[in-house]
Amino acid sequence: MENKLFGKPVITQEAMRRRIKSLGLKIARDYEEKDLLVIGVLKGAYVFFSDLTRAIPLPLEVDFFVVSRQKDKRRKDGVTVKIISDIASDLKGRDVLVVEDIVDSGHTVTFLKKEILKRKPSSLKFCTLLNKPDRRQVDVDVHYICFEIPNQYVVGYGLDYKNRYRNLPYIASLENVIAE
Ligand code: IMP
Ligand code: MG
Repeated sequence: MENKLFGKPVITQEAMRRRIKSLGLKIARDYEEKDLLVIGVLKGAYVFFSDLTRAIPLPLEVDFFVVSRQKDKRRKDGVTVKIISDIASDLKGRDVLVVEDIVDSGHTVTFLKKEILKRKPSSLKFCTLLNKPDRRQVDVDVHYICFEIPNQYVVGYGLDYKNRYRNLPYIASLENVIAE
């Protein structure tokens, strides 16, 4: 894919590579004596998850949730998060790290935290590639953040607009992508 087709990167591949490498080493230090299970939240996290887990030099295990977040007028917070496909692992006594593409309103992380804690892991932390703190509606605790971004809609590196652009190899602003 030519850069020309999809606009200027908001975050370049090189910046992501560097940041993910150092975050992977930090996570490895934090979980050195632990029994780490890394859970990816699909579809959005698939690219980041693959790069991040390969940057953590520990004998970790992987698993995946497929979730969908939809508008729901019947709810006060206006959204509903559903598990479309569940993990296969038993979480009891495990050290769980959940990997997200982006934390926006905070509803997805809130929902997943509640769901996972029911399953009695020994510890639970969240990691995200991108954080949009200006858009937060519910307070969430995200332990590892690669990049903070302002309030703009971005695509690429796993993130979509109407299920497209996930395969763009860097993060771009949707405005630019559509304008091209
Ligand atoms: P939250 O529940 O509002 O925190 O939403 C998180 C989910 O919304 C992410 O996992 C994405 O699927 C989607 N999302 C939020 N902002 C963006 C964006 O800028 N680009 C692509 N997807 C986004
Ligand atoms: Mg999405």
